[in-house]
Amino acid sequence: MSIISKDISKAIVLLTNDELVAIPTETVYGLAGNIYSEKAVKAIFETKKRPFFNPLIVHIPSVEYLETIVSEIPKKAQQLADAFWPGPLTLVLKKNPNIPDIITAGKDTVAVRVPNHPLTLELLKQLPFPLAAPSANPFGSISPTNAQHVEGYFKNDIKMVLDGGACENGIESTIIGFENNDPIIYRLGSIALEAIEAIVGKIAIKNKKEINPEAPGMLDRHYAPSTLTVLSHTISEDIKKHSGKRIGVLVFESRIKNDNIQEQIVLSPSGNMAEATSKLYDALHQLDKQNLDIIIAEIFPDFGLGKSINDRLQRASFSS
Ligand code: TXA
Ligand code: MG
Repeated sequence: MSIISKDISKAIVLLTNDELVAIPTETVYGLAGNIYSEKAVKAIFETKKRPFFNPLIVHIPSVEYLETIVSEIPKKAQQLADAFWPGPLTLVLKKNPNIPDIITAGKDTVAVRVPNHPLTLELLKQLPFPLAAPSANPFGSISPTNAQHVEGYFKNDIKMVLDGGACENGIESTIIGFENNDPIIYRLGSIALEAIEAIVGKIAIKNKKEINPEAPGMLDRHYAPSTLTVLSHTISEDIKKHSGKRIGVLVFESRIKNDNIQEQIVLSPSGNMAEATSKLYDALHQLDKQNLDIIIAEIFPDFGLGKSINDRLQRASFSS
């Protein structure tokens, strides 16, 4: 029997009973549990096979709710929350003492966001507690952007995926932390860098090595298909180099004509970066199922959401 359902009241019963429910958000599906239930939060880590040193994002119903989760709100954090919530922005701020250590991996900061999906906002408004929710995929693999992806990963492990359709944005939230009240990007994501700078001015992107292992979304290899994946600056040459193999190709807008290609996905024939972003993970899921020897992904223009896509493709293709 399928675990996919649109029944919010069933999700409420499960979550209230310390069980996990996968929830839709505008970015990717999350594997959610009551932040105050040790049983639920432990189950999140176990189900994902996620190391305990990797903290979780707390999902809340409104901007006003923030003050119950954190102990300090820098001015620029408030400006960002007002500009982007509900939406794909995660703020890392000094935590309120009532936030359990297992959520924050013992750190004195907590990651928090108001997701922008009508079903999940409704769920959060009805529940008397916030939801901890990492992306609903086994640690290191491709994040899910529809209910079927989650079912494929966890049908034997959880009782329900709340079906909210395909995720509108399609890659994870942008994570911003604060040092001396100055914002710093910890993870590029669904908001274009330029849109953030329009609110708070020029912002630094913290080098992944500097925050490892604090934000394993920053790990070198992450978001990865099981098929060998390479990121290519010279796609036609790379296809030639691998001729004779079963090749899958992922491109932004222009289809490549080459008889050596087994499978090709064009993310946005009209060259729309937001459309390409929303389809990225589903395309990787699809290519990963085709028994290919290699996936060759074209590098994106390095601005706007293209920068965030390149970040994910780099991690998908990283080999040490
Ligand atoms: O779009 C998203 O953010 C999705 C949806 C479900 O909301 N969630 C998500 O969660 O991507 P997850 O766990 O896959 O990624 C959260 C990232 C991790 O890299 C984690 O290390 C980082 O946030 N993080 C959480 N708390 C942190 C903290 N206190 N300081 C620094 N990084 C933190
Ligand atoms: Mg994740």
